[in-house]
Amino acid sequence: MSRKKIIAGNWKMNKTPSESAALAIACVAEFGDIADVETVICPTFTGLAVAREKIAGSKIALGAQNLHTEKNGAYTGEISGDMLKDAGCDFVIIGHSERRQYFGENEETVNKKIRAALASGLKPIVCVGETLDVRDAGGTEKLVRTQTTGALAGLTAAELSSMVIAYEPVWAIGTGRVASPAQAQEVHAWIRDELTQTLGADFASKCRIQYGGSVKADNAKEILSQPDVDGALVGGASLDAKGFAAIVKATL
Ligand code: 13P
Repeated sequence: MSRKKIIAGNWKMNKTPSESAALAIACVAEFGDIADVETVICPTFTGLAVAREKIAGSKIALGAQNLHTEKNGAYTGEISGDMLKDAGCDFVIIGHSERRQYFGENEETVNKKIRAALASGLKPIVCVGETLDVRDAGGTEKLVRTQTTGALAGLTAAELSSMVIAYEPVWAIGTGRVASPAQAQEVHAWIRDELTQTLGADFASKCRIQYGGSVKADNAKEILSQPDVDGALVGGASLDAKGFAAIVKATL
């Protein structure tokens, strides 16, 4: 089964709207015409509108970094899936480890957010991954299997057909410490096995699993050539259009 690779840039809480415009323009110039790999940029909420305008007509898709579980209502400061869809988003990142760590998200909220995203026609990029303590204690496999099944509880293969999973070992995020290609492949295979058991072999063979954690131009090719690694979710390196383009091109 060949899966189209997907490279997404998570800009996190970086770039004002004017800076987002400049970065989006640079992304279009660097890789906006590449169609053999799916590319996504995920600016902040305030950067979405201007990024949408700048990537219009290119092959680059727009994603958000979070959404609320409800469609609308008295939730001061929150943004719903319908708002993101209307703002031009195709994708939304859900359950990033920073949201789990700083904003108390867990399997239950992640599950609700996946449902909210799907109800609004957004493709969820669902993040899982272990901390260093868990890895050192030998608990990685159990944790990523639990995070995967917990996030997807009660959802069917048909409902989840657009979902992407991102394996992001917390110890590799923003640390410069990248998982070895073998470590990434091992965990991706566990996740795919868990998907096979819960949603079936057909679903599992089609579902794309990205790796995230200190992906850079110089380590992308080796990681992306692993059989179960279907792309990358890139943080820091996605803030530079040339560096991000090099990661995109490493998949070709
Ligand atoms: P870095 O690429 O900066 O390590 O961040 C990874 C990440 O968290 C992407 O979502």
